[in-house]
Amino acid sequence: MKPRLLILQQKTAYAEHLKRHVTVQKERSYLVEDFSKDIHTHEGIIKKKYLTEPDGTLIQSSKGKEFLILTANFRDLFDRIKKLPQTIPAKDLGWVAARTGMNKETIVYDFGGGSGAASSFFARLCKKVVCFEVRKDHCKIIEENLKRFSIKNVTLVNADVIKENIRYKNADVVHIDLPNPFDFIDKAVTAVKIGGYIVNYSPPIVSTQKVVNLLNERSDIRVEETVEIIQRQWKVKGEAVRPTTPKINHSGFLTIARRMQ
Ligand SMILES: C[S@@+](CC[C@H](N)C(=O)[O-])C[C@H]1O[C@@H](n2cnc3c(N)ncnc32)[C@H](O)[C@@H]1O
Repeated sequence: MKPRLLILQQKTAYAEHLKRHVTVQKERSYLVEDFSKDIHTHEGIIKKKYLTEPDGTLIQSSKGKEFLILTANFRDLFDRIKKLPQTIPAKDLGWVAARTGMNKETIVYDFGGGSGAASSFFARLCKKVVCFEVRKDHCKIIEENLKRFSIKNVTLVNADVIKENIRYKNADVVHIDLPNPFDFIDKAVTAVKIGGYIVNYSPPIVSTQKVVNLLNERSDIRVEETVEIIQRQWKVKGEAVRPTTPKINHSGFLTIARRMQ
Protein backbone atom coordinates (compact mmCIF):
# COMPACT_ATOMS: atom_id res chain seq x y z
CA MET A 1 0.00 0.00 0.00
CA LYS A 2 1.42 3.38 -1.01
CA PRO A 3 1.56 6.12 1.66
CA ARG A 4 -1.46 8.41 1.69
CA LEU A 5 -1.85 12.08 2.51
CA LEU A 6 -4.74 13.42 4.57
CA ILE A 7 -5.29 17.11 3.92
CA LEU A 8 -7.43 19.37 6.06
CA GLN A 9 -8.12 22.22 3.68
CA GLN A 10 -7.82 25.89 4.59
CA LYS A 11 -11.10 27.68 5.22
CA THR A 12 -11.79 31.40 5.33
CA ALA A 13 -14.83 33.32 6.48
CA TYR A 14 -15.86 36.96 6.19
CA ALA A 15 -15.30 38.80 9.49
CA GLU A 16 -17.85 41.60 9.66
CA HIS A 17 -15.96 43.62 12.28
CA LEU A 18 -12.74 43.51 10.22
CA LYS A 19 -14.54 43.93 6.89
CA ARG A 20 -12.38 41.21 5.32
CA HIS A 21 -11.97 37.46 4.98
CA VAL A 22 -9.94 35.74 7.70
CA THR A 23 -8.57 32.20 7.99
CA VAL A 24 -10.75 30.13 10.30
CA GLN A 25 -9.06 26.82 9.57
CA LYS A 26 -5.42 26.45 8.61
CA GLU A 27 -4.37 23.83 6.07
CA ARG A 28 -2.72 20.82 7.70
CA SER A 29 -1.63 17.53 6.25
CA TYR A 30 -0.85 14.14 7.73
CA LEU A 31 1.20 11.45 6.05
CA VAL A 32 -0.15 7.95 6.62
CA GLU A 33 2.25 5.02 6.31
CA ASP A 34 0.73 2.62 8.83
CA PHE A 35 -2.70 1.42 7.75
CA SER A 36 -3.23 -0.95 10.67
CA LYS A 37 -4.73 1.61 13.04
CA ASP A 38 -6.96 4.70 13.21
CA ILE A 39 -5.23 8.06 12.72
CA HIS A 40 -5.33 10.51 15.62
CA THR A 41 -5.17 14.15 14.57
CA HIS A 42 -5.76 17.49 16.30
CA GLU A 43 -9.05 17.57 14.44
CA GLY A 44 -10.32 14.17 15.58
CA ILE A 45 -9.83 10.51 14.77
CA ILE A 46 -9.94 9.15 11.24
CA LYS A 47 -11.05 5.53 11.04
CA LYS A 48 -8.59 3.18 9.34
CA LYS A 49 -11.32 1.85 7.01
CA TYR A 50 -11.30 5.26 5.25
CA LEU A 51 -7.56 5.17 4.51
CA THR A 52 -8.02 3.13 1.34
CA GLU A 53 -10.67 5.42 -0.19
CA PRO A 54 -9.89 6.62 -3.76
CA ASP A 55 -7.85 9.81 -4.31
CA GLY A 56 -9.95 12.94 -3.99
CA THR A 57 -12.45 11.46 -1.52
CA LEU A 58 -13.57 13.67 1.39
CA ILE A 59 -13.37 11.84 4.71
CA GLN A 60 -14.90 12.93 8.01
CA SER A 61 -13.03 12.78 11.31
CA SER A 62 -14.73 12.00 14.63
CA LYS A 63 -14.98 15.79 15.19
CA GLY A 64 -16.79 16.23 11.88
CA LYS A 65 -13.79 17.84 10.11
CA GLU A 66 -13.38 17.04 6.43
CA PHE A 67 -10.08 15.68 5.10
CA LEU A 68 -9.21 15.11 1.48
CA ILE A 69 -7.29 11.90 0.84
CA LEU A 70 -4.57 11.54 -1.84
CA THR A 71 -1.80 9.07 -2.62
CA ALA A 72 1.43 10.64 -1.37
CA ASN A 73 4.08 11.29 -4.02
CA PHE A 74 7.88 11.46 -3.67
CA ARG A 75 7.76 15.14 -2.81
CA ASP A 76 5.24 14.57 0.00
CA LEU A 77 7.65 12.03 1.48
CA PHE A 78 10.80 14.08 0.74
CA ASP A 79 9.35 17.08 2.61
CA ARG A 80 9.05 14.84 5.68
CA ILE A 81 12.45 13.15 5.30
CA LYS A 82 14.02 11.85 8.53
CA LYS A 83 16.94 14.17 9.29
CA LEU A 84 20.06 13.82 11.34
CA PRO A 85 22.39 16.27 9.58
CA GLN A 86 20.86 19.19 7.70
CA THR A 87 19.62 18.31 4.22
CA ILE A 88 19.81 20.29 0.99
CA PRO A 89 16.49 21.87 -0.04
CA ALA A 90 14.79 20.66 -3.21
CA LYS A 91 15.22 24.09 -4.87
CA ASP A 92 19.01 23.58 -4.82
CA LEU A 93 18.91 19.90 -5.78
CA GLY A 94 16.62 20.73 -8.70
CA TRP A 95 19.17 23.24 -9.94
CA VAL A 96 21.98 20.67 -9.70
CA ALA A 97 19.93 18.14 -11.66
CA ALA A 98 19.06 20.67 -14.37
CA ARG A 99 22.52 22.22 -14.57
CA THR A 100 24.34 18.88 -14.92
CA GLY A 101 21.70 17.42 -17.24
CA MET A 102 21.11 14.31 -15.10
CA ASN A 103 19.27 11.49 -16.80
CA LYS A 104 18.85 7.72 -16.75
CA GLU A 105 22.46 7.20 -17.87
CA THR A 106 24.04 9.43 -15.24
CA ILE A 107 26.22 8.03 -12.45
CA VAL A 108 26.51 10.29 -9.40
CA TYR A 109 28.93 10.09 -6.50
CA ASP A 110 27.54 11.83 -3.46
CA PHE A 111 30.32 12.79 -1.00
CA GLY A 112 28.75 13.26 2.45
CA GLY A 113 25.51 11.28 2.42
CA GLY A 114 24.11 12.93 5.57
CA SER A 115 20.43 12.06 5.75
CA GLY A 116 20.35 10.86 2.15
CA ALA A 117 18.27 13.73 0.78
CA ALA A 118 20.56 14.56 -2.13
CA SER A 119 21.23 10.89 -2.96
CA SER A 120 17.50 10.09 -2.95
CA PHE A 121 16.62 13.11 -5.07
CA PHE A 122 19.28 12.29 -7.67
CA ALA A 123 18.57 8.54 -7.64
CA ARG A 124 15.08 9.08 -9.04
CA LEU A 125 16.57 10.79 -12.09
CA CYS A 126 19.79 8.82 -12.54
CA LYS A 127 21.05 5.35 -13.33
CA LYS A 128 22.99 5.02 -10.11
CA VAL A 129 24.14 6.99 -7.08
CA VAL A 130 27.09 5.95 -4.92
CA CYS A 131 26.63 7.62 -1.56
CA PHE A 132 29.66 7.96 0.74
CA GLU A 133 28.99 8.57 4.42
CA VAL A 134 31.52 8.18 7.24
CA ARG A 135 29.12 7.96 10.20
CA LYS A 136 27.27 4.74 10.97
CA ASP A 137 24.28 6.53 12.58
CA HIS A 138 23.89 8.68 9.47
CA CYS A 139 24.09 5.57 7.28
CA LYS A 140 21.22 4.07 9.28
CA ILE A 141 19.05 7.14 8.59
CA ILE A 142 20.03 7.06 4.90
CA GLU A 143 19.00 3.40 4.70
CA GLU A 144 15.66 4.15 6.38
CA ASN A 145 14.97 7.03 4.01
CA LEU A 146 15.90 5.01 0.91
CA LYS A 147 13.55 2.24 2.03
CA ARG A 148 10.75 4.72 2.66
CA PHE A 149 11.20 6.21 -0.80
CA SER A 150 11.45 2.70 -2.38
CA ILE A 151 14.80 3.69 -3.95
CA LYS A 152 16.99 0.78 -5.01
CA ASN A 153 19.70 2.35 -7.18
CA VAL A 154 21.78 3.89 -4.38
CA THR A 155 24.91 2.09 -3.20
CA LEU A 156 25.68 3.25 0.29
CA VAL A 157 29.36 3.16 1.25
CA ASN A 158 30.06 3.61 4.95
CA ALA A 159 33.56 5.08 4.65
CA ASP A 160 35.69 8.16 4.94
CA VAL A 161 35.95 9.57 1.41
CA ILE A 162 39.51 10.73 2.10
CA LYS A 163 40.68 7.21 2.97
CA GLU A 164 38.42 5.32 0.59
CA ASN A 165 40.01 3.87 -2.49
CA ILE A 166 37.33 4.86 -4.99
CA ARG A 167 36.95 1.94 -7.35
CA TYR A 168 34.87 3.51 -10.09
CA LYS A 169 36.57 6.53 -11.54
CA ASN A 170 34.06 7.50 -14.16
CA ALA A 171 31.35 9.43 -12.40
CA ASP A 172 29.32 11.84 -14.52
CA VAL A 173 28.72 14.01 -11.47
CA VAL A 174 30.53 14.23 -8.14
CA HIS A 175 28.36 16.06 -5.64
CA ILE A 176 30.01 17.35 -2.45
CA ASP A 177 28.24 18.40 0.73
CA LEU A 178 30.85 18.21 3.47
CA PRO A 179 31.93 20.56 6.26
CA ASN A 180 35.45 20.82 4.78
CA PRO A 181 34.88 20.41 1.03
CA PHE A 182 38.26 21.93 0.12
CA ASP A 183 39.96 18.76 1.49
CA PHE A 184 38.10 16.60 -1.04
CA ILE A 185 38.93 18.31 -4.31
CA ASP A 186 41.66 15.85 -5.37
CA LYS A 187 39.36 12.93 -4.58
CA ALA A 188 36.52 14.50 -6.57
CA VAL A 189 38.73 15.14 -9.60
CA THR A 190 39.97 11.52 -9.52
CA ALA A 191 36.41 10.21 -9.35
CA VAL A 192 34.84 12.34 -12.09
CA LYS A 193 35.19 11.48 -15.77
CA ILE A 194 36.57 13.92 -18.34
CA GLY A 195 33.61 16.07 -19.33
CA GLY A 196 31.85 15.34 -16.03
CA TYR A 197 30.87 17.81 -13.32
CA ILE A 198 31.95 18.50 -9.77
CA VAL A 199 29.25 20.30 -7.80
CA ASN A 200 29.99 21.70 -4.38
CA TYR A 201 27.24 22.76 -1.98
CA SER A 202 28.40 24.88 0.97
CA PRO A 203 26.31 27.06 3.28
CA PRO A 204 29.28 29.37 4.19
CA ILE A 205 30.76 31.59 1.50
CA VAL A 206 34.25 31.16 3.01
CA SER A 207 34.26 27.39 2.23
CA THR A 208 32.96 28.17 -1.25
CA GLN A 209 35.78 30.67 -1.79
CA LYS A 210 38.41 28.10 -0.73
CA VAL A 211 36.90 25.45 -3.01
CA VAL A 212 36.75 27.77 -6.02
CA ASN A 213 40.32 29.00 -5.47
CA LEU A 214 41.61 25.44 -5.30
CA LEU A 215 39.69 24.41 -8.41
CA ASN A 216 40.95 27.47 -10.28
CA GLU A 217 44.56 26.47 -9.59
CA ARG A 218 44.07 23.29 -11.64
CA SER A 219 44.60 23.14 -15.39
CA ASP A 220 42.31 20.12 -15.79
CA ILE A 221 39.26 21.86 -14.29
CA ARG A 222 37.14 24.77 -15.50
CA VAL A 223 35.01 26.47 -12.88
CA GLU A 224 31.76 27.42 -14.59
CA GLU A 225 29.84 29.33 -11.94
CA THR A 226 28.85 29.80 -8.31
CA VAL A 227 25.21 30.53 -7.61
CA GLU A 228 22.81 31.00 -4.75
CA ILE A 229 19.26 29.92 -5.53
CA ILE A 230 16.87 32.40 -3.99
CA GLN A 231 13.25 31.40 -3.97
CA ARG A 232 10.75 34.19 -3.40
CA GLN A 233 7.19 33.26 -2.63
CA TRP A 234 4.22 35.49 -3.37
CA LYS A 235 0.77 35.59 -1.91
CA VAL A 236 -1.74 35.91 -4.72
CA LYS A 237 -5.32 36.08 -3.54
CA GLY A 238 -7.96 38.32 -5.04
CA GLU A 239 -6.68 41.88 -4.78
CA ALA A 240 -3.94 40.89 -2.34
CA VAL A 241 -0.68 40.40 -4.23
CA ARG A 242 2.57 40.65 -2.32
CA PRO A 243 5.76 38.73 -1.54
CA THR A 244 5.54 36.67 1.63
CA THR A 245 8.18 36.20 4.32
CA PRO A 246 10.56 33.55 2.94
CA LYS A 247 10.55 30.13 4.62
CA ILE A 248 14.23 29.64 3.78
CA ASN A 249 16.39 32.74 3.68
CA HIS A 250 19.76 31.26 2.82
CA SER A 251 20.57 27.61 2.24
CA GLY A 252 23.91 27.34 0.47
CA PHE A 253 26.15 28.30 -2.43
CA LEU A 254 26.48 25.95 -5.36
CA THR A 255 29.65 25.81 -7.39
CA ILE A 256 29.80 23.86 -10.62
CA ALA A 257 33.06 22.91 -12.28
CA ARG A 258 33.84 20.66 -15.22
CA ARG A 259 36.74 18.30 -15.74
CA MET A 260 38.31 19.16 -19.09
CA GLN A 261 41.31 16.76 -19.24
C1 LIG B 1 25.63 18.25 5.71
S1 LIG B 1 25.71 16.53 5.70
C2 LIG B 1 25.20 16.09 4.10
C3 LIG B 1 23.70 16.18 3.90
C4 LIG B 1 23.24 15.53 2.62
N1 LIG B 1 23.74 16.22 1.45
C5 LIG B 1 21.73 15.42 2.53
O1 LIG B 1 21.16 16.06 1.62
O2 LIG B 1 21.12 14.71 3.32
C6 LIG B 1 27.44 16.20 5.64
C7 LIG B 1 27.76 14.72 5.88
O3 LIG B 1 29.11 14.47 5.53
C8 LIG B 1 29.59 13.43 6.37
N2 LIG B 1 31.05 13.41 6.31
C9 LIG B 1 31.91 14.28 6.90
N3 LIG B 1 33.19 13.95 6.60
C10 LIG B 1 33.13 12.85 5.80
C11 LIG B 1 34.12 12.04 5.17
N4 LIG B 1 35.42 12.31 5.31
N5 LIG B 1 33.71 11.00 4.40
C12 LIG B 1 32.39 10.72 4.26
N6 LIG B 1 31.40 11.46 4.85
C13 LIG B 1 31.77 12.50 5.61
C14 LIG B 1 28.99 13.79 7.72
O4 LIG B 1 28.99 12.69 8.60
C15 LIG B 1 27.61 14.28 7.35
O5 LIG B 1 26.68 13.25 7.43
